[in-house]
Amino acid sequence: MPPLTADKTMDKLVSLAKRRGFVFQSSEIYGGLGSVWDYGPLGVELKKNIKERWWRSMVHERQDIEGLDAAILMHPKVWEASGHVSGFTDPLVDCKHCKNRFRADDPRIKGTPGQPDGQCPVCGSKGTLTAPRQFNLMFKTFMGPVEEQAAVIYLRPETAQGIYVNYLNVLQSSRQKIPFGIAQIGKAFRNEITPGNFIFRTREFEQMEMQFFVKPGTENEWFGFWREERMKWVEGLGIRSGKLRWHQHGPDELAHYAKDAYDIQYEFPFGWQEFEGIHNRTDFDLSNHQKHAGKKLDYLDPKTNERFVPYVVETSAGADRTALVVLCDAYREEEVRGHEAAEGEGGEGGGGDQRVVLKLKPSLAPLKAAVFPLVNKDGMPELAHRIHDDLRRHFNVFYDDGGSIGRRYRRQDEAGTPFGITIDGQSTQDQTVTVRDRDTLKQDRVAAGKLVEYLTQKLAG
Ligand code: GAP
Repeated sequence: MPPLTADKTMDKLVSLAKRRGFVFQSSEIYGGLGSVWDYGPLGVELKKNIKERWWRSMVHERQDIEGLDAAILMHPKVWEASGHVSGFTDPLVDCKHCKNRFRADDPRIKGTPGQPDGQCPVCGSKGTLTAPRQFNLMFKTFMGPVEEQAAVIYLRPETAQGIYVNYLNVLQSSRQKIPFGIAQIGKAFRNEITPGNFIFRTREFEQMEMQFFVKPGTENEWFGFWREERMKWVEGLGIRSGKLRWHQHGPDELAHYAKDAYDIQYEFPFGWQEFEGIHNRTDFDLSNHQKHAGKKLDYLDPKTNERFVPYVVETSAGADRTALVVLCDAYREEEVRGHEAAEGEGGEGGGGDQRVVLKLKPSLAPLKAAVFPLVNKDGMPELAHRIHDDLRRHFNVFYDDGGSIGRRYRRQDEAGTPFGITIDGQSTQDQTVTVRDRDTLKQDRVAAGKLVEYLTQKLAG
């Protein structure tokens, strides 16, 4: 099979995502809304599995982290205190000729914007680009019936601030002691200027963030600890380790709140890019909220009687971007040999001896198994429905009796379903079924009554 170009891989993934019901363009029947995406029946399951895995490891499995679900809308002063009103900006330039707008650091721009040699990458005019202006990435709206400056409210650009403003509430109600953390999963919004690459950079997305509050002076130790923990978690998603690396932010890359930051990057078809960041945010946020709100946010250490404003180590992952990592890493086009080559009718990848398969970790897969009566007669559908009903009480499973068995296998390969359960002529005689493994294509014969146990074991991890 010829090697895939980066663009082709993304195009194929986007088309598979639509075909199988992972991700659809928002408001598609109206021509779509720029860089906003909807998750279909399989996509919502995949993203939910990722979020649940994160929640389990960050909240349930740890005694020192509490969960939170703060509102998206917050007091507008929060964003002044956090530095987002003044500092959460991208430099923009406009072309006075063709009216297009770009980020000032767009690599396609030739020359210097604002100078006679600045050349528009779209219409090619020279000297028509404006000097860079700062553009705030926060979405604004109004609270209440009057659209005036005093009623301006923002859609949060990060979930972290909901944690900072609730830090005392959680500390006091949970009776935690420092060091401890607060975790939350929720929507964030950014009016990105150069969004793109499918669900990589969107204007509405979900973050999985955890702020860990520590004693000043211990932040470097905790920073190292959380870097290690987060990489372990990412590897646990089944991502190929050669496709993962660390990237430390240089001084000009650091966000306005960060003293040190490391990204976990993945080698996407369009290059190495971040999908999670570990940040040393010092006492930047809590100290600023203390000042702006006029409320003490310091901590009294019960052992030493010392008072201090805690330092924060943040772990911040995008749920959508992590889902894209998982999808990109799982996407394969393969040649199929043996009996399946004759049975299959191919997916996007072509004819009967080729298949497109999502090799998702079974515990992340949206559907855990599909149930197929080999033919729609001779008692097979009845038994297949009984097995499907039984399995449904334990796992998300799918029933499919349409088309040849090979075609049904291929559809489930594209959906990333790890197991295909076929009810054949022998099944109605001895109550056994075949279970086909998506990756090895091997088939086991399993007693129908043992399927729950069999799948539970295979899906662990
Ligand atoms: N609270 C820190 C923070 O928000 P960030 O590096 O701006 O840090 C963290 O964002 C993560 O959120 C990113 O690594 C990415 O996974 C996700 N993210 C940020 N902007 C995004 C966007 N426009 N679309 C999708 N995901 C985004």
